[in-house]
Amino acid sequence: MAKETLGIIVNGATGRMGYRQHLVRSLLALRDEGGVPLSDGSRQPIELYLVARNEEKLRELAEKHNIEKYTTDLDEALAAEGFPVYFDALVTKLRVPAIRKAIAAGKAIYTEKPTAESYAEAVALADEAEAAGVKNGVVHDKLYLPGLLKLKRLIDSGFFGEILSVRGEFGYWVFEGDWQDAQRPSWNYRSEDGGGIVVDMFPHWNYVIENLFGKIASVYTETRTHIPQRVDERGETYKATADDAAYAIFDLENGPIVQFNSSWTVRVNRDELVELHVDGTHGSAVVGLFGAKIQPRNATPKPTWNPDLPDTHDYAEDWIEVPQNDPTENGFKLQWIEFLRYVLDDGNHTYDFRSGADGMLLAEAALASHDEGRRVALAERAIAPNQAASTPVAEPVGA
Ligand SMILES: NC(=O)c1ccc[n+]([C@@H]2O[C@H](COP(=O)([O-])OP(=O)(O)OC[C@H]3O[C@@H](n4cnc5c(N)ncnc54)[C@H](O)[C@@H]3O)[C@@H](O)[C@H]2O)c1
Repeated sequence: MAKETLGIIVNGATGRMGYRQHLVRSLLALRDEGGVPLSDGSRQPIELYLVARNEEKLRELAEKHNIEKYTTDLDEALAAEGFPVYFDALVTKLRVPAIRKAIAAGKAIYTEKPTAESYAEAVALADEAEAAGVKNGVVHDKLYLPGLLKLKRLIDSGFFGEILSVRGEFGYWVFEGDWQDAQRPSWNYRSEDGGGIVVDMFPHWNYVIENLFGKIASVYTETRTHIPQRVDERGETYKATADDAAYAIFDLENGPIVQFNSSWTVRVNRDELVELHVDGTHGSAVVGLFGAKIQPRNATPKPTWNPDLPDTHDYAEDWIEVPQNDPTENGFKLQWIEFLRYVLDDGNHTYDFRSGADGMLLAEAALASHDEGRRVALAERAIAPNQAASTPVAEPVGA
């Protein structure tokens, strides 16, 4: 007997992430493959209901991809029969009220990060979802990247020995919008609209670091707004009020130290837009979105410092490429499969609203570190479940 379709409401379907990664690369790909692959080898067919604010864009998109249902009215989608899953890729500022509606409607909820604009609100949202008994999940896409999966494999194999330090480098030049259009939305550069590289990227660094290397004990961060003025989508000049670069050091409870530069104001001289350099007692690795190369202890060169002689050794040649071994798959799609299988009681999904809130805890601690000019322990700012309402809201932080 044919399975009933599983309906998924996609809110923010016209956005950069909503459209490219979630709709096209994940959900439409799954729909067109016959559905979500299940553990028994069968497929669960899915149906999509698109929501966004621009009806014309929505219609075009729905027609292009052969999607029957779309609306500009979220309430209408939430009330429709046969759509028990809600996904949110709205701009961050609009997320909490939309998710609250989905909780009230009893949906299983999957969302882009960050789950809320503040940590206290993110904890409250986790409390509310748990109290309502709705399944919930947050995008943790970086963990599903081929390069990071290779890194996980290296860690699990014991390749590094004791991991001593990690240096992360993320970023690229985002055009100012004056003589070339900016390749990111303008709200990213306005803190009053939920922008800023710390709020955007530290939720990712939180789960990447904690799932691969260990629990973060404290953070020290310097942020900057290097480009104070930009030009928006309509050609209008605006003041950039949010941080566009962050220079951070994370101390892990189990010993390793992690440094991370995140910047929309750097020009790339690396193999990939994000790179992690991991040094351990028995080996080192340099890992990107896709690639990973290693240098074991017993193939490590012995440089000697001599500024009088040009160094002719090709250090890049000393590294060994890690093979892919398994076929690559889009990271967003892999996590979608995991989440939908969890909704269907066919597996687990670890990354819930609580873990999304941890990402905001790190982002806020990092901003507080910059504002106060000191290292901030995460424990100082942590809120226990169900305590969000009674915890005094920390002073707003961030430039
Ligand atoms: N996982 C990742 O790697 C990653 C990367 C970038 C962004 N994000 C997150 O994804 C979310 C969306 O970011 P984006 O870059 O796609 O943004 P975007 O501006 O391209 O799209 C956001 C969506 O929100 C809608 N929207 C904006 N203002 C609205 C309003 N006033 N009323 C109704 N709808 C409105 C837009 O129409 C669009 O559908 C953000 O929360 C961001 O933090 C995640």
